[in-house]
Amino acid sequence: MSSAPLSPDGPGRNRFEISKLDLFYGDFQALKSVEMSVRDRMITALIGPSGCGKSTLLRCLNRMNDLIHGTRIQGKVLLDGQDIYHASTDVTNLRKRVGMVFQRPNPFPLSLYNNVVYGLRVAGVHSRKELDEIVERSLRAAWLWDVVSDRLDHSALELPLDQQQRLCVARLLAVQPEVILMDEPCSALDPIATMKIEELMLELKKEYTIIIVTHNMQQAARVSDFTGYMLLGEMIEFGGTKDIFTRPSNKLTDDYITGKYG
Ligand SMILES: Nc1ncnc2c1ncn2[C@@H]1O[C@H](COP(=O)(O)OP(=O)(O)OP(=O)(O)O)[C@@H](O)[C@H]1O
Ligand SMILES: [Mg+2]
Repeated sequence: MSSAPLSPDGPGRNRFEISKLDLFYGDFQALKSVEMSVRDRMITALIGPSGCGKSTLLRCLNRMNDLIHGTRIQGKVLLDGQDIYHASTDVTNLRKRVGMVFQRPNPFPLSLYNNVVYGLRVAGVHSRKELDEIVERSLRAAWLWDVVSDRLDHSALELPLDQQQRLCVARLLAVQPEVILMDEPCSALDPIATMKIEELMLELKKEYTIIIVTHNMQQAARVSDFTGYMLLGEMIEFGGTKDIFTRPSNKLTDDYITGKYG
């Protein structure tokens, strides 16, 4: 956790500005007038009980919900002041800028090397020298290089789960995103592997803006600078992590963090 007192209204640049965001799956409203801002190179955590809309909100930030049939959205999601839902948005480029790591590691059934270079090849990078350099840089940044550098031709599926998750981070870093969305990235991992991913997140935030969904309140308290508490599709409270966990201003937040919810 950062030691400096932080508030969503304090200094620093906002990357995302989300206002009055509603999302419907058919007739069902999963997000209700959500307001949130996401600060550059900080970790923002979304917490709240199952089904409250955390993953839905995360998916709004790189338009992954577009892929779900029957979704409808109202309100604004600005990235660096630009409305990402505007008709002129290049969605492929948006998803490159705002990448995602999922709950279960999802490496492709390919070699480690080919996993990391996958997005680059799709983007037309074919120089072996360039790819080699990016593979090393990305695996180093994901703290995996020293572990796997001698077996880049092995299948990614042979790796233990936490290394698979770090490989997925490396695959993302290879295409140079600006924002990293993580939807419960540690939920399939044991406590030691979880700690490694948390350390990695703290390292990555020097260069990247990170938004993490987590069920683990200790994790949110340990790694994040800002926290949003959601309930039934609403953003009940959003603020500096220390404030949310030590002096929440909403009774509902207090009930949740003290375990009185439900
Ligand atoms: N594809 C979908 N179609 C219809 N309803 C959906 C869809 N995805 C999610 N929902 C509903 O939207 C609400 C929010 O779901 P979401 O997955 O965003 O919650 P969550 O906070 O991420 O939950 P969890 O902690 O269990 O992952 C839930 O009521 C869920 O049933
Ligand atoms: Mg979810």
